[in-house]
Amino acid sequence: MKILAIGDVTSPAGLEHLKKNLWKFRKTKGIDFCVVNGENASFITGISPDGAVELLRAGADCITGGNHTMQNKSIYTYLDETREILRPINFGDSAPGRGYTILDCNGYRMLVISAMGNIHIDPVLDNPFSFIDKALKEEAGNYDFSILDIHAEATGEKLAIGYGYDGKINIIFGTHTHVKTADLQILPCGTGYITDVGMCGETGGVIGMNAECVVERMRTRLPKKFVAAPGEPKADGVIFTLDESSGKVTATESISF
Ligand SMILES: [Fe+2]
Repeated sequence: MKILAIGDVTSPAGLEHLKKNLWKFRKTKGIDFCVVNGENASFITGISPDGAVELLRAGADCITGGNHTMQNKSIYTYLDETREILRPINFGDSAPGRGYTILDCNGYRMLVISAMGNIHIDPVLDNPFSFIDKALKEEAGNYDFSILDIHAEATGEKLAIGYGYDGKINIIFGTHTHVKTADLQILPCGTGYITDVGMCGETGGVIGMNAECVVERMRTRLPKKFVAAPGEPKADGVIFTLDESSGKVTATESISF
């Protein structure tokens, strides 16, 4: 079984790019299940219900979330009503929507969890370990395979979660930094892991944004409206090949399209 994880959609242009190319890419590579981090598809203002619908139609089987997901209040009802979109599990039970879901993948029950780290990221949510543990315990026996998107800034925190759930969650990929890391690997107990899968949006800037705006804001510390980077959009991701009999990841491939 081939599972594709795509990093943060950073803008409407990133979403358009997936609408044009994701199904074609899925077919070429024989992808069985696709998870896309869509927390920011509306460009720094979260994700709208229309954006979420378009992303699912574009070829995402599940949309995971992050620190921007709850910024756009128009998504709250959609989060409540739609099993294919998640917000980070550690927002807790009082938040709209859900932090995990179980979806069909070729007749297998795929548990997908979205969680946020709590180092150098805002808002600071409760410890993700306790929420992930609770979900795994509550759903034990109700799923066949599992995927975790850990949306976090700190590489060490993401690696710790990778090792903490090695052999317990089949695939763990990080998001949020928009920069793909060079540590794609299979952990000792068979979990496929990468600290960050990258992003889907405009290239030629600073993590999807126009470099001049970002540099000026950092240099002066004064407010400056962000605009998108000038380059053509590109999608970064990883394909994990999962052996259905053992539950172990047997191959990984870093991709961009
Ligand atoms: Fe984020």
